[in-house]
Amino acid sequence: MNHWKLDIVDELATLSLDVAGQSANLLSQEVLSEFDQLLRDLEGQPLRGLIIRSTKPSGFIAGADVREFERISDPARAAELARAGQLVFGRLARLPFPSAVAIHGFCLGGGLELALACTYRIARDDPGTRLGLPEVRLGIHPGFAGTLRLPPLVGDLAALDLMLTGRSVSAREARRLGLVDEIVPERHLLRAAAQFLRRRRPSRRAPWWRRAPGWAPLRPLVARLMARQVAKKANSEHYPAPYRILELWRQRAGEEREALSIGELLVARTSRNLVHVFLIGEELKREGRKHPHGIEQVHVVGAGVMGADIAMWAAYKGFRVSLQDRTPEILARATKRAHEFFKKQLKDARAVQEAMDRFMPDVEGHGLARADLVIEAIVEKVEAKRELFRTVEQRARPQALLATNTSSIPLETLAESLKDPARLVGLHFFNPVAKMQLVEIVRGAQTGEEALRRARAFGVALDRLPLDVKSSPGFLVNRILMPYLIEAVKMAEEGISIVHIDRAARAFGMPMGPIELADAVGLDICLSVAQMLAGPLGIEVPQRLAELVEQGVLGKKSNGGFYKYDAKGRLKRPRADKAPEIPITERLILRLLNEAVACLREGVVTEPSAVDAGMVYGTGFAPYLGGPMRYIESLGETGISHSLYRLAQEYGKRFAPDPGWTQPELFLRTAVRRP
Ligand code: NAI
Repeated sequence: MNHWKLDIVDELATLSLDVAGQSANLLSQEVLSEFDQLLRDLEGQPLRGLIIRSTKPSGFIAGADVREFERISDPARAAELARAGQLVFGRLARLPFPSAVAIHGFCLGGGLELALACTYRIARDDPGTRLGLPEVRLGIHPGFAGTLRLPPLVGDLAALDLMLTGRSVSAREARRLGLVDEIVPERHLLRAAAQFLRRRRPSRRAPWWRRAPGWAPLRPLVARLMARQVAKKANSEHYPAPYRILELWRQRAGEEREALSIGELLVARTSRNLVHVFLIGEELKREGRKHPHGIEQVHVVGAGVMGADIAMWAAYKGFRVSLQDRTPEILARATKRAHEFFKKQLKDARAVQEAMDRFMPDVEGHGLARADLVIEAIVEKVEAKRELFRTVEQRARPQALLATNTSSIPLETLAESLKDPARLVGLHFFNPVAKMQLVEIVRGAQTGEEALRRARAFGVALDRLPLDVKSSPGFLVNRILMPYLIEAVKMAEEGISIVHIDRAARAFGMPMGPIELADAVGLDICLSVAQMLAGPLGIEVPQRLAELVEQGVLGKKSNGGFYKYDAKGRLKRPRADKAPEIPITERLILRLLNEAVACLREGVVTEPSAVDAGMVYGTGFAPYLGGPMRYIESLGETGISHSLYRLAQEYGKRFAPDPGWTQPELFLRTAVRRP
């Protein structure tokens, strides 16, 4: 056996999983078949019980080995694999003696399905324990009989909630839900499992009232109501998996139907693309983890929209942070915001206090001399930033990493004020920092390798995805997004209803329409980014945008932009007539795709996957399409560049296809290359 170890003491068997060559346990086919073999051997033995556990510090089982999904292209083969898993877990559930699983750390997907097939589940009581069925996030659903075993255990609504959202729960919540029988401190974990086996209590079932929504006469109604909830979040054409989960539940479908359904989903476009997005995110994390960041103390200068949130997030993630700005009032506002955020996230009073202790308002800037990393997030003015970096370099420790959050100033311009420009890197966060997963790691002409490595590692330590980009106007994400936003404003200028424009983008799969987005970001910010990109990229800034900003109409923050907002800040969508006969979606998306290709051609990033990662994780670009480059791949470059020609003839040269469309090497997917 490569991955499992069996011990039998006193007629009690213990199976310990430690998947060879990996830091986390994943359920590959090989791991499952070894498990099956062991269960066959144990079946016939006179045992009192079986304990299953992981001997990896990282946790129990983090789920299936997603990389194997990409190699399966036939739905029948995928269903067959699900059936094989069902058989193994069925064997576990039918053992002639009871089984108990001892859970710590991640217990996700197939790992939780394994646990569900055991008689008892005991979990370690600490914040690192997470249980969940995240399959839906990869466009599939549980396939090893999890859809069948979960509802009777925790009740139908709780089971549907877990499967439909894919969210994971802590040990305590799992206990509350009935997902685990007992939670205990680390040192009691195995003893508690053995005790459960000795006592042989009947296995758990949710109380009748929690199973009531599953009664036959109620099912269709409950399924309909839930489907309505799901529809608010996920379009059934783009994301079929949650609807399948409801359907399987409503029909009380058995294992065979579960296997057939997952077989179809696994090879379909949505799941393929969601898996692609997931794997490139994992790749960015892996790259980032390769080197230590050596950072404990962070000093942030500028406590505005971005600086305050960066400081708050870093303190939340365990760093000691000092936050500097010009007045105590600005810092007081930032501190209050951080406190509210910690309370909301951490709930536990002690944890909130500890996070607050790590967050130090610092009007004098004392933290600067102690920091391992200094992040500049002051106003977007070249001279102010240069002046600041001169002081920073004088006062900071020689080994401290220096970073800027600028969204438009070339790093080279800022580096001129430094004696050692190799220390300066861009850490470009997205707004709101606590929500947006991406951080662009910006490489200036003189940025050193060591600075880049530390910046990436710091990004990962913040639980963000660090994406390398070359210092150039707008970097990657803002640059690709801007032509799309500008096209939307242009259409509004032409008199097309903003309702239709936004609706078209949402129907394509964007999380919000471009006009809503412009309002949310702030029209002044959009204007300044557009003006900054206008020169170098030859972008024409719509008159309308400048006019609105001049009138003080700045979007949601000024209580009105393209849309009006009610007192609670909710957008009031005006009525719109019939949609006009204009290729709205095409105009929006093709400008975006054209810019994506331009970025690759110029080497802003060097890999199509990097464009996908940037746009999906930085802007929410239709995840079911897998990102702009994956979308281009599915449609074919030639077709798109022809459409661009056509639009260029009709609407102007801004649609002229970028020269990159005729360079096939740009579209090749290779291992990650760096700019
Ligand atoms: P902001 O205007 O909200 O905040 C800037 C803060 O810096 C203010 O509180 C100001 O008092 C302070 N400040 C100015 N000069 C200072 C100095 N010499 N010493 C200490 N504090 C000083 O600006 P925001 O939006 O937070 O932007 C900051 C940086 O982040 C800019 O470089 C911007 O381009 C970038 N950025 C902004 C994003 C956004 O969505 N707002 C997104 C990503 C980057």
